[in-house]
Amino acid sequence: MADVDALSSAVYDTKQWEDFLKTKYGPYKSSKETKHFYEDIKGEKTHPSVIAFLKENHEKQTYDYVRTMKEKYGKLNQGEFSIWGMLMRLDEIKVNNRGGDVQLQQKEHAFQMAESMRREGQPRWLVMTALIHDLGKYLYLLGEKQWTVVGEIFPVGCRFSKEIAYPHFFDNNPDTKNEKYNTKFGIYEPHCGLDKVNFSFGHDEYMYMVCNNLGYLPKEMLYILRYHSFYSCLLEGDYTYLLNDYDIEMMKWVKIFLQYDLFSFTEPLPVDLNDLKPYYVELISEYFPEKIRW
Ligand SMILES: [Fe+2]
Ligand SMILES: [Fe+2]
Repeated sequence: MADVDALSSAVYDTKQWEDFLKTKYGPYKSSKETKHFYEDIKGEKTHPSVIAFLKENHEKQTYDYVRTMKEKYGKLNQGEFSIWGMLMRLDEIKVNNRGGDVQLQQKEHAFQMAESMRREGQPRWLVMTALIHDLGKYLYLLGEKQWTVVGEIFPVGCRFSKEIAYPHFFDNNPDTKNEKYNTKFGIYEPHCGLDKVNFSFGHDEYMYMVCNNLGYLPKEMLYILRYHSFYSCLLEGDYTYLLNDYDIEMMKWVKIFLQYDLFSFTEPLPVDLNDLKPYYVELISEYFPEKIRW
């Protein structure tokens, strides 16, 4: 289990990372009021805790590490919990860190996204996906650190993209010096499809494994859960040489999803979540049994 200090900095760093993303790609990137944030990024004045965790992430996510983590968490023997219960549990993580209260605001973000999709008539499965997309952050409660829970994901086993934020940190990743892994295609075939590619391990892959285990969820939902942080491809257009036709078809949905995840201004939630609860409890029961394996 995570100790309180580790969890506390994890929550703080996660908040900083999410602010970083919104500034880099989201609605704030060109708005006048927040111009200085953007300039900070260009001038590499990103929040130090973001830089520190990205450095660790880029240095430690190796092919071997990823294989080990997929093997470990792929067993899904961490417990059985309901979707609703996990949503509430993650949201209760609140810490006082470096002079302020910070919360891992999973519930609020999840409901805001789901609600704006619902208002705009998006399909039920997509609303469902929004509600659960970050629940893999349960990894924090299992004692995992920021660098292997959040951050953008990227293929391992082939050359790291220059479009990933802070690419120079890959210089100290052992795979960069391994000639098996440091070429454009590395161990993969051109257009082999992302399903054959190993990605840096984080909440995305974990939640994909949890949901894929059920065996019947919509393929688009599983795809979004797995690749929603693959920004170097989705937003910068890199790694297209690994995609197959199936990926290209599925990417359309991830991009729609990201419009809600990153690009839309968030609106405050209705004061009383109890008003929303009946709809979402029913939605969850449409796709999930009472408890699932994590
Ligand atoms: Fe996420
Ligand atoms: Fe999100």
